[in-house]
Amino acid sequence: MPHAHSGCSLIPTGSGVIDAEHGAILDILSAMTAGGPMGLTELTTLRREVGEHFATETAEMAVLTPDRREQHEHAHRVYLASIDALLVAAERGDPVTGDDANRLMLWFIVHSNTADTELVEASRRTGDEPPMISMDDWLGSLDEEDQAALRS
Ligand SMILES: [Fe+2]
Ligand SMILES: [Fe+2]
Repeated sequence: MPHAHSGCSLIPTGSGVIDAEHGAILDILSAMTAGGPMGLTELTTLRREVGEHFATETAEMAVLTPDRREQHEHAHRVYLASIDALLVAAERGDPVTGDDANRLMLWFIVHSNTADTELVEASRRTGDEPPMISMDDWLGSLDEEDQAALRS
């Protein structure tokens, strides 16, 4: 059976931490889409890894404009809700289907290649900005009389 992600693969974002976490999640999803077990154990592991990963990205999101940040956070919430719905179904005894696994994989790859790449690029641009000149450092270069005058 062809997988939903055929022809669509994960592109590194350039952030070592985010790419390592993406790789770990991709391994779980790949096992599922390859026909491996997709029960409560696998879904619980996936939910934990994805939750921790989204927290990593949230910590980087101060660089985004408020609306882009909300769009990204909203996408994360929707994905977590879809995993939670599969967990509830699995607890009832309804197995996860191959289509469910393919959808989880497809969303993950597309989101990583778009929203996450945007996030990493925004972080990098912020990092390129010249450092703020500290007023205290600058004042320290003056003689004491001038420092006192400026600080008063
Ligand atoms: Fe991500
Ligand atoms: Fe993300």
